[in-house]
Amino acid sequence: MPREKFHQYRNLRTNGNNVVASVYSIINDYIQQADSDFPVIKKHASNTGTANNQVEQQTILLTGATGSLGAFMLRDMIRSSRVKKIYCLVRHNNHNDLDGMKQRLATSFRGRLLSESLINSPKIQVLPMSLNEEPYLGWDQDTYHQVKNEVTIIQHCAWSMNVRESVEHYERDMIRGLYNLVKLAYHETNPTHLHFISSNSATAAWGAPSIPEIPVPHDPTIAMPMGYAYSKYIVERLFDYLAKNKNFPCFVERVGQVLGDTENGVWNPNQPYPLMMLGGSLIHMIPDLMTMHVQWLPVDFASASILDIMLKTINTKRSTSISASNSPSDIDNSNVFHILNPKSVSWNTILEVLRNYGIQFEVVSPQRFVEELDKHPENPAYRVKSFFEARYKAVDSDGKSMPVWETKKTVQVAPVLAKAPSFNTDLLKKYIEYWHTIGFAIPIV
Ligand SMILES: NC(=O)c1ccc[n+]([C@@H]2O[C@H](COP(=O)([O-])OP(=O)(O)OC[C@H]3O[C@@H](n4cnc5c(N)ncnc54)[C@H](OP(=O)(O)O)[C@@H]3O)[C@@H](O)[C@H]2O)c1
Repeated sequence: MPREKFHQYRNLRTNGNNVVASVYSIINDYIQQADSDFPVIKKHASNTGTANNQVEQQTILLTGATGSLGAFMLRDMIRSSRVKKIYCLVRHNNHNDLDGMKQRLATSFRGRLLSESLINSPKIQVLPMSLNEEPYLGWDQDTYHQVKNEVTIIQHCAWSMNVRESVEHYERDMIRGLYNLVKLAYHETNPTHLHFISSNSATAAWGAPSIPEIPVPHDPTIAMPMGYAYSKYIVERLFDYLAKNKNFPCFVERVGQVLGDTENGVWNPNQPYPLMMLGGSLIHMIPDLMTMHVQWLPVDFASASILDIMLKTINTKRSTSISASNSPSDIDNSNVFHILNPKSVSWNTILEVLRNYGIQFEVVSPQRFVEELDKHPENPAYRVKSFFEARYKAVDSDGKSMPVWETKKTVQVAPVLAKAPSFNTDLLKKYIEYWHTIGFAIPIV
């Protein structure tokens, strides 16, 4: 995005309301809190193999396994010989109903055509998820301490994705709970490795043609202007603070658009792009995002890459080298990863794939697309209109603006990412066939 345009856009957002001030204030509050809550993490007490990050097999705490990415991560963790045990945190209105929680996981697997029997793996231990409950996350004290002592890696994947919610809502609903996980992970020596699934939307307005795999700068206007993106940005800032000032092994996996899997084509049709495809095919219009290059990534490849990162980073000499001096300042930038397809394709390629499959549409300007949706509140794409509005605002009208997220460093750690296919007709066929089986029928000629 040309620099002056970027500033106009930024000023518009800054002056339009106080949302950016609010983001700064939330970050400051959390950093102040973290400053007093967590003493700087010290070097390893021993090298005997009892330290959390020395053990060969890992015990992982996973949130979000009832969702798409989390389910695939859980599947991969169950299959991995490097994972000994998985504490799976599941939302349920009855905290004593562990069977009901397992049922929710089984339903999630069934819906994604994953083998349901895997849920009976002895590796899995379910626990109720109510991260906002203090002091013990709604568990009894013994359970809390057992989990705190056993877990070597936390992967926090659960997050609500509501484009209409404010950053203040996200602070109450999600960030407070995340902070309680930070407390769970904290040990003055050998802390639990803490991973967070962020979103590329937290960096989409960075103003550079390519986004590096480094922590976010101190400027919330690099996020897309919506509470969801700001919430991810805030956590990234908090993690950067914890890593640099407290020696906390915090890792950010910035995820871009995730597609269904490559085996069965299970892609949630309630996401913006499937809704655009269905809604667009009903009004015979698809927005012209010709300036956009997409790095869409099938969920099974996203999951495999993230698990690879989790298991590789636990074995690095990172904690040892950081702690050698006990200085919080000498940490490198290696804790941010980009989970996006290294093979980016142009929007034109996407349109070609849709046409090749037989979807009929006219290519219209993004504004025209949104105007047309306004006339059709019954259209399935209408409910994600604001997602597209925000996206279009982040894209410069005369081109070249949608950045590419770099993946070089991530691929070095997780080479499987480079093997992901880019969006193509075979994949689209799988998605459309899957959607038909669940009654989400795209009209085709
Ligand atoms: N899908 C994408 O294209 C994409 C892109 C960028 C980033 N991400 C990130 O990737 C992660 C997983 O996304 P996904 O595609 O797997 O989403 P998903 O299928 O919608 O799953 C969301 C998960 O988060 C949980 N969740 C939702 N609202 C919650 C709340 N208020 N409190 C606690 N848990 C809540 C859900 O639990 P319940 O089943 O109990 O509702 C579910 O386990 C998220 O952090 C998301 O922000 C996704």
